[in-house]
Amino acid sequence: MKAITIPEPGGADALVLADVPSPEPAEGEVRIRVAAAGVNRADIMQRKGFYDPPPGSSPYPGLEVSGTIDALGEGVEGWAMGDEVCALLVGGGYAEQVCAPATQVLPVPAGVSLEDAAALPEVVCTVWSNVFMTANLLPGQTLLVHGGSSGIGTMAIQLAREVGARVAVTAGSAEKLQACKALGAEVLVNYREQDFVEEIKAATDGAGADVILDNMGAKYLARNVDALAMGGRLVVIGLQGGTTAELNLNTLLRKRAAVIATSLRARPLPEKAAIVAAVREHVWPLVESGRVRPVVHSRHPLGEAAAAHREMESSGHIGKILLRP
Ligand SMILES: NC(=O)c1ccc[n+]([C@@H]2O[C@H](COP(=O)([O-])OP(=O)(O)OC[C@H]3O[C@@H](n4cnc5c(N)ncnc54)[C@H](OP(=O)(O)O)[C@@H]3O)[C@@H](O)[C@H]2O)c1
Repeated sequence: MKAITIPEPGGADALVLADVPSPEPAEGEVRIRVAAAGVNRADIMQRKGFYDPPPGSSPYPGLEVSGTIDALGEGVEGWAMGDEVCALLVGGGYAEQVCAPATQVLPVPAGVSLEDAAALPEVVCTVWSNVFMTANLLPGQTLLVHGGSSGIGTMAIQLAREVGARVAVTAGSAEKLQACKALGAEVLVNYREQDFVEEIKAATDGAGADVILDNMGAKYLARNVDALAMGGRLVVIGLQGGTTAELNLNTLLRKRAAVIATSLRARPLPEKAAIVAAVREHVWPLVESGRVRPVVHSRHPLGEAAAAHREMESSGHIGKILLRP
């Protein structure tokens, strides 16, 4: 089969289409003939050599796919050859075939095309596990999403809106903010022109955000803690603004607030299985009803993965970028 390999870490041209052996499903795994693969920031980090796949997993990039099951490993129940599915992966999605634990596979939701379903697993599992399972966002509370127009952001806005929360976003352009508004964001902050702490306080009568979903890490830590409401929860999922910063524990203590940081890829299989099961129970009905949808910005042939990475790195996109084998 063909797959995108990374012979040497580096720029977008480090992504090389090559002939590699087809993977064989281990016990408890299914093999998927890939219809589309989602592109994620983490793939760029892996390409640059900063985010190695966990030991024993596929060396190729790609954290989510959609496609058709074409082989079943020992002991797999609940899935059959030919099923149209999407799956959360630790890697290997930039390929014609990939194996996934059966517990990380979801049916393609009714009303979503086989290809577009590739835009769902990573963002839905990340948002659901962090914003709802970990930070416990409740109806009537305020969620601040940094990078509201990102793949993650476009899903976070929709899911928070659906549970009856109020959504604030930051983004770097008026066009991106308008896209966030169309998805349900009510408070729009252009971080290039406005201070998000001031804006979130002004929008909440000085209270602040109950939950913040953060992609910036160190650069935003102090301001995020300032922007939190009493009992607020800051969930850091990205480190685009660096890893090391000072934290004022007194501010945190007075607010009885929490700072949490998580990575989905490294979580043990049973935790991922629980997240995928929760997503199937709580999110899939929203997608099947048409109220929540994958936001797909562009599609590239698998062999042009470099162009897809350049597009993501230039940050011109709104929503997800897909690769088609
Ligand atoms: N921990 C986990 O398990 C996990 C899982 C999935 C994703 N993530 C993280 O989630 C983030 C989004 O991932 P993605 O795949 O959806 O990537 P993406 O679509 O490329 O999104 C990155 C976003 O960062 C925004 N951005 C850049 N500088 C910013 C700033 N100063 N303030 C606010 N936003 C800024 C960009 O928007 P502008 O053009 O508006 O700047 C862009 O929308 C990444 O950091 C990724 O690593 C973490």
